[in-house]
Amino acid sequence: MVMHAPGLAPILSPGQFVNVAVPGDPSHITRIPLSFAGTDPKAQTIEIVYAVVGEGTARLSRMGEGDASTVLGPCGKGWRLDDVSGPALLVAGGVGAPPVLAAARGLLARGIPFDVVLGAQTAGKLWGVGLAKSLGAGRVVVTTDDGTAGIKGFTTVAVEQMQGERDYADVLTCGPQPMMAGVARLALADGSSCQVSMERMMTCGFGACNTCNVAMAAGGYKACCTDGPVFDAREVAW
Ligand SMILES: Cc1cc2nc3c(=O)[nH]c(=O)nc-3n(C[C@H](O)[C@H](O)[C@H](O)COP(=O)(O)OP(=O)(O)OC[C@H]3O[C@@H](n4cnc5c(N)ncnc54)[C@H](O)[C@@H]3O)c2cc1C
Ligand code: FES
Repeated sequence: MVMHAPGLAPILSPGQFVNVAVPGDPSHITRIPLSFAGTDPKAQTIEIVYAVVGEGTARLSRMGEGDASTVLGPCGKGWRLDDVSGPALLVAGGVGAPPVLAAARGLLARGIPFDVVLGAQTAGKLWGVGLAKSLGAGRVVVTTDDGTAGIKGFTTVAVEQMQGERDYADVLTCGPQPMMAGVARLALADGSSCQVSMERMMTCGFGACNTCNVAMAAGGYKACCTDGPVFDAREVAW
């Protein structure tokens, strides 16, 4: 979905998210947190890519051209691209692809080389392969759980293979938590820095409700919505 969001599009950083109100059912008062895949500051638009998983995203999918709502943002802290020296390996699972490809745009702008792994349950759920190539990825490797496209298996299979062929200074990843835990383990064992974009249920999206806690390795919790969603993998209690 492309949203016209004057004022917001130019100030969003890769890895931040927006909190979208979906009109249609007044009993649903919470917004839907969504990453963005890209922005067009000139046209003042934001591109989001989402999976329909429940009532809110189903209503979102019924919105059409000309429908209006409100969107809150920029939310959270995004990728720390200034800390990335490259070569970088970007690893996305499922709907983790939008923020990972937003990071790719940022690396492209900084002239930092990167490869991409895109994983999905099945070929029909893959998104972003063409976009990753058009953003200048050195290699784009696809994995599917059922083998309908690319390597059969999880993204970690591809990550291990690619680590054997190139030294990655940095790994950036977003996807299901078990996948990110596996990618983080491989990245840190290989001596790479590793940034992870965590997903949590969110209610407010701005640090007021304690819904979105992420357990920290050092003890205690941080708020995914304001301290994250991007964390250093070493910070997180996996
Ligand atoms: C920072 C952030 C960025 C996100 N970016 C994207 C994106 O780019 N594209 C995309 O498709 N989705 C993204 N999500 C997930 C998206 O927000 C949820 O899928 C959505 O809120 C579900 O709302 P719903 O009303 O349709 O489903 P619900 O009826 O609320 O839930 C349906 C199912 O999804 C699970 N679920 C709901 N919200 C979340 C969540 N936040 N994390 C994990 N599971 C959840 C529920 O447990 C339930 O099983 C993001 C979430 C966060 C926190
Ligand atoms: S969603 Fe309310 S504190 Fe994070």
